Amino acid sequence: QAKTLWHGRFTGGPSESLLAYTVSLPYDQRMWRDDIIGSKAHVRGLARVGLLTDDERDTVLAALDQVGVEMETGSFAFTDSDEDIHTAIERRVTEIAGPAGGKLHTARSRNDQVATDLRLWCKRELRDVALRLVEMQEALLEQALEAGDTYLPGYTHLQRAQPVLLSHHLMAHGWALGRDVSRLLDTIDRLDVSPLGAGALAGSSLPIDPVGNADDLGFAKPFDNSLDAVSDRDFVAEAVFDLALIGIHLSRIGEEWVLWTSGEFGFARLDDGYSTGSSMLPQKKNPDIAELARGKSGRLIGNLTGLLATLKGLPMAYNRDLQEDKEPLFDSVEQVTLAVAALTGMIATATFNADAMQSAADEETMAATDLAEFLVRGGMPFREAHAVVGAHVQKCLAGEGTLSELVAADPLLGDEAALLVRPGVGVTMRSSRGAAGPEARDVQVESYRAMLADE
Ligand code: ARG
Repeated sequence: QAKTLWHGRFTGGPSESLLAYTVSLPYDQRMWRDDIIGSKAHVRGLARVGLLTDDERDTVLAALDQVGVEMETGSFAFTDSDEDIHTAIERRVTEIAGPAGGKLHTARSRNDQVATDLRLWCKRELRDVALRLVEMQEALLEQALEAGDTYLPGYTHLQRAQPVLLSHHLMAHGWALGRDVSRLLDTIDRLDVSPLGAGALAGSSLPIDPVGNADDLGFAKPFDNSLDAVSDRDFVAEAVFDLALIGIHLSRIGEEWVLWTSGEFGFARLDDGYSTGSSMLPQKKNPDIAELARGKSGRLIGNLTGLLATLKGLPMAYNRDLQEDKEPLFDSVEQVTLAVAALTGMIATATFNADAMQSAADEETMAATDLAEFLVRGGMPFREAHAVVGAHVQKCLAGEGTLSELVAADPLLGDEAALLVRPGVGVTMRSSRGAAGPEARDVQVESYRAMLADE
């Protein structure tokens, strides 16, 4: 029968269904590195305050290193009683180190241990997600630079509105990713607190050294309140929120690329390596990466709402409910990591159909706002100018002439205004700060590069 680390006060062993229901080993195994790092710091801390001799310390540290090697090489043998990665590692350390191993858990609980491990895991993994986002921002910039002065319709309500540079459009998504990067870095800053030494909930009667442990582990500071230290999962909720919002940004990109690669738009073509075919329809080339970026955002939102519901109403301090923090976090990190890599490749290798984009943007009525602004420059109130141009658009729609003909014939507008309706002119007109035209775009490229350099 399985023998747990906590069997002392029990006469009967754990039932099979209890073990099956409560184990977290299948998913918390991925924290083994962090558990070993945390345990090594704890062991050094115990030795500093005289709770372990130098010999015992070295024996346990060597055992922890051996466990690390076994984990790395896949030779670590789990047993039925290994509830989670923490108990598995402690069991093995005791097998290797003998009685000294039995001192590893002195003044420590799985409650401060798991919180420590998870914070270490988050620090490393969230930074990795941030780095991947930076690569995606770079891919967007590269395509933006490649796009030169290619323009396409800018949309509101998915109705053609005004021409914008393709580079401007691509960088728009890059700015959103920039906020995601800074949000992740903020989250990392806030979670940079060591819970080690909080024990199960109340600290310890032994002379442990939480300040030294925090320092040893590279945390910015130790916890101030043991109850908060073991029960706080704000950092997981924040991380899962950050990842859900990244998912939403990726989903918006995905939706656009589904449209852009459709026959109806025909704005972009995907590289073969980043598109899929159909099992039945031989002609098909599908944007599955873009679709899954859109589809999986639902799951990322679900991970967030599920976690928040788990945390709601938990009394102080540790409750086993908290074990449910890990799967949503791990899943969100994994899904965002996979999505960013696939989308970055998709964007970096795609080609754009400038003719399709530009001819859609060259529709004469796209110049309507420029015509109204022409009248404003002559002193007409904007509302009046809006009505004058609107009336011309109405005539166009009624088949009374093209917009350029009607504009040229209108004494208020005339030939000079008619030039504004010509293909390719519209996009050059928007030059205010942050606007969609070439001059403003050149300034933006510099600030975009500064953002990347800052990250
Ligand atoms: N696997 C558990 C978790 O992730 C470990 C904590 C169990 N603690 C306890 N006091 N039973 O939260």
